[in-house]
Amino acid sequence: MEIQLWREILDPYALAVNELIVKFNHIIEEYHHVGAYSPIEQVTGRVKTISSILEKAQKKGIDLEYFEEKIDDIAGIRIICQFVEDIYKVVDIIKRRSDMRVKSEKNYINNMKKSGYRSYHIIVAYNVETLKGTKELQVEIQIRTLAMNFWATIEHSLQYKYKQNMPEHIRERLSSAAEAVLILDREMSVVRDEIMDAQNSFTIKANIVADILTNIQNLYKVANKQEVIKIQDEFFRIYQNGDQEELERFNRELDLLSQRYRAQSLR
Ligand code: GTP
Ligand code: MG
Repeated sequence: MEIQLWREILDPYALAVNELIVKFNHIIEEYHHVGAYSPIEQVTGRVKTISSILEKAQKKGIDLEYFEEKIDDIAGIRIICQFVEDIYKVVDIIKRRSDMRVKSEKNYINNMKKSGYRSYHIIVAYNVETLKGTKELQVEIQIRTLAMNFWATIEHSLQYKYKQNMPEHIRERLSSAAEAVLILDREMSVVRDEIMDAQNSFTIKANIVADILTNIQNLYKVANKQEVIKIQDEFFRIYQNGDQEELERFNRELDLLSQRYRAQSLR
């Protein structure tokens, strides 16, 4: 197949990957905007290279005429979570979406592969719009924790280095590292609630402070400078106290004050 033809075929896959990265990142933002903890920590994606498509087709005896159906990971999205529990939340989110249809799923979280690999895989059907019209294609979504990702990344690079001949002692090391990852994820789950509480109140507080600063900035334009300086001093005092409720009350007062100025300027 000519390189130009490859490019034409793979182009919609690049579009799918780009779109999905934007969409999953937007989910993170939606959570943050309401001051909530996001089950998604990070999103990456890639389109399989021509050479690794050829390699996989050869290894699996796939007729190149059908490679788009037979190779389901030409477009790949990887979603990294902090906790194992988050993985299932993300799976739920994916299943509820109307812009992708789950074709198959594999749970290697509970069923670790022999290598020690753990991850949740979903193959979805996803539509992209091209100059030639709508094209439905497959996307592989891998969902895993930071710890699982750490393991998989290292194992992958060792696999690459040794090809089929990974020395036994390294294989054993990887296997015990996989056990360590399992234990780490379990430990993290135990402290999850505490960590989430801390992250939540941190995010909420950051949002309140951002609101207050915006309010003060706007008051600068309309209010008496002396008054604004007094407000600013009051803010620093409350901020240093570190009490979230007091910050909230202060912000509500600023909201009211801003409203009053706005009403005045409309008169
Ligand atoms: P392939 O798609 O040909 O790999 O076969 P499959 O669909 O049966 O594989 P599976 O769903 O188990 O794995 C698909 C992808 O998961 C691979 O392309 C890798 O990215 C990843 N993966 C699977 N097993 C391992 C493993 O042992 N180590 C690492 N690092 N990654 C793995
Ligand atoms: Mg596969």
